[in-house]
Amino acid sequence: MGRESDMEITLSDEAERKVSELKSRYPDKKSAVMPALYVAQEELGYLNRKAILWVSARLEIPPVHVLEVATFYTMYYKKPVGKYHFQVCRTLSCAIRGGGKKITSYLKKRFGIEPNEVTPDGMWSYEEVECLGSCGTAPMCEINDVYFENLTEEKIEEIIKRIEAEEPDLRYSTIRDELGKGLEDLGRSKVV
Ligand code: FES
Repeated sequence: MGRESDMEITLSDEAERKVSELKSRYPDKKSAVMPALYVAQEELGYLNRKAILWVSARLEIPPVHVLEVATFYTMYYKKPVGKYHFQVCRTLSCAIRGGGKKITSYLKKRFGIEPNEVTPDGMWSYEEVECLGSCGTAPMCEINDVYFENLTEEKIEEIIKRIEAEEPDLRYSTIRDELGKGLEDLGRSKVV
């Protein structure tokens, strides 16, 4: 990745303001790399080259260090995703309790797309990921930044229908208490 990282790569004024504020929270500004990546992801929808260079320039760290963080964690999207993106846990606890493949097969049939594809209306996408740390409430998945737990096919269908009807904001960067509000009865649980 070249060094056209420079301050010339800009995002919105709001994103610039957020990253400046994040930098001021830490003695070493590179510690803000994870929340700064969220700011870029919120604005661009996923972390493309521009996002990596923007974070690198703002935190004054090499692009490769930003890329290392972005590629390590599955909550950072490296390619475009739907407005609602399912990350389905496929690790042991979820798999033996009817999650993982069973859930992604359901989503494949429901949306008519393969993993990491996006429905033509831009609404839905899904992928399988490793343990999301909620094994005690398996099977589970994350939709954008909100956990849904103790899933069944019926519950997943109900969640999809409610999202279609209400289009709730499930992004991490919004006010945490508001995340997935109204979906509590469907196994919704906040990321903490
Ligand atoms: S095994 Fe699924 S959350 Fe841990």
